[in-house]
Amino acid sequence: MSVTIFISCLLVITVAGGEVLPDEFQRQFDVMIMAKFDQLEAKVRDQEIQLKTARDEILSLKTKVQQLEPVLEENAKTKSRSVDGNPIVAHKAMAATSSALFVPRTCHEARESGLPEFKESGMYWIDPDGLKIGDGAIYVYCNMTTGATSVGHDSEATIDIPKCSPAGCYSRPIVYNGGSLKQMKALAEISADCHQTIQVNCLGGPFTVKGIDYAWWTDVSDNKQNFWSGSDESDHTCQCGIENNCVRSDLECNCDANVAVPLSDNGNITLKGVLPVTKLNFGQINHNGGSHTLGKFTCSGKPTYAFYPSSCADLWRIGYTLNGLYPVRGSKRVEFIYCDFSLGQNVQQETIGYADVKTQAVEFYVQRSDEYSSTTPSVIPFNVKILNEGGAMDMVSGIFTVPKTGTYLFDFSGISNPVDGVFSVVFNVNDEKKASTLADDPGQFTMNLPSIWHLAKGDTVKLTITSGILYSDDKNGPLVHFTGILLEEDIFEP
Ligand SMILES: *[C@@H]1O[C@H](CO)[C@@H](O)[C@H](O)[C@H]1NC(C)=O
Ligand SMILES: *[C@@H]1O[C@H](CO)[C@@H](O)[C@H](O)[C@H]1NC(C)=O
Repeated sequence: MSVTIFISCLLVITVAGGEVLPDEFQRQFDVMIMAKFDQLEAKVRDQEIQLKTARDEILSLKTKVQQLEPVLEENAKTKSRSVDGNPIVAHKAMAATSSALFVPRTCHEARESGLPEFKESGMYWIDPDGLKIGDGAIYVYCNMTTGATSVGHDSEATIDIPKCSPAGCYSRPIVYNGGSLKQMKALAEISADCHQTIQVNCLGGPFTVKGIDYAWWTDVSDNKQNFWSGSDESDHTCQCGIENNCVRSDLECNCDANVAVPLSDNGNITLKGVLPVTKLNFGQINHNGGSHTLGKFTCSGKPTYAFYPSSCADLWRIGYTLNGLYPVRGSKRVEFIYCDFSLGQNVQQETIGYADVKTQAVEFYVQRSDEYSSTTPSVIPFNVKILNEGGAMDMVSGIFTVPKTGTYLFDFSGISNPVDGVFSVVFNVNDEKKASTLADDPGQFTMNLPSIWHLAKGDTVKLTITSGILYSDDKNGPLVHFTGILLEEDIFEP
């Protein structure tokens, strides 16, 4: 509209002027007109883009509405039934509404859900490594009769293998729909079985002869493989090798015959831990006419869990994806672990430990091999180290510094040798007397001082003697013993 108005205006000016405009004025006028036109053109382009965006938005909304329709229908049905006051029906309605947000991890899961929107076989979005964590969802084919998930790729059609000479000279990377190998790995991990079929037509061009690989495929972990069928990674073979019907009985693959006649091999790779195929390499090809056809990566079922989960990875396989503290099976009892699922199956795990699964062990056992005497109260130092796990015991000063808050068990034993009446060994926490043992008869007595304390990180523990002699000698072996062990760690230190 504005274009028309502007042009008619221009005409009016030209006509009304009636005479030739001065050159300079004409030039400036042209520049101005051109600038105006550019502006208008930009505006029109802008409008076009906006229109297209709006159209796309409408299309996308239409699709969404179509997807929601069955859900809403179900919702309406259950709601009308809930008029008779059945509370279970009301729950059902809520579940149907929330199902609109349900993105299954596999087609198996979609089928198991029994939701109406997953009835028909077809293309669906799934998220094997977990919704809202790991990599984005992938678009796959679901066979809803079998519950099988098939991931397509860019090399499903038959592709010619050109002539080329060194081993592996022809190379074809396989690009999966969605592109995420992490999602493929996740899919395999949470499925019972996976397989991928391959067919190769050859006119010469052996796979593996006398242990030399001329052809191979690359697995999901970037390893070269030369088994073309079955699940035995260590065995170069094709389907004819497994069935013992290759063209030459001494070979495992027809193509290994390496003759200039058309032959073919096929295989069904079923080792799910190495699938899918990520690259194909062929070589030593002296004739045109060869080709390869690689099937979709297909997985079905779900693994059986005949065990209690013992790690965050187990929990992820079962389907947990919310970060948090979970109880799992430990070596001796149920333990708690903190799971961070934000990386999908590469879940981060932190053990919150008790007695046998401490995040870091703290234990010491030190001795004195000679007698220690003092005329004033003083800290007992030690000179024999049996154990000092965690390094918290300083033998020279005789001071144990608590490395982490928790409950500790200590034990002391030694032989008294009172000089003038009373001899006492005192257990101190932060210079404060907490416990003691005492001998007040002349002669030698065994003194014991076991105790359990809840201590905070940074607290110090030491044994002091009053005046007297703590007896020990090398001949009878060290007779003064001091041990300590962290029994139970405080999970949440303030
Ligand atoms: C589903 O899989 C079964 C078994 O492989 C097959 O017979 C059937 O044709 C498949 N259905 C569809 C719709 O792909
Ligand atoms: C490949 O193996 C899988 C699993 O054993 C099986 O379900 C599938 O039918 C096989 N496909 C072919 C073409 O043999």
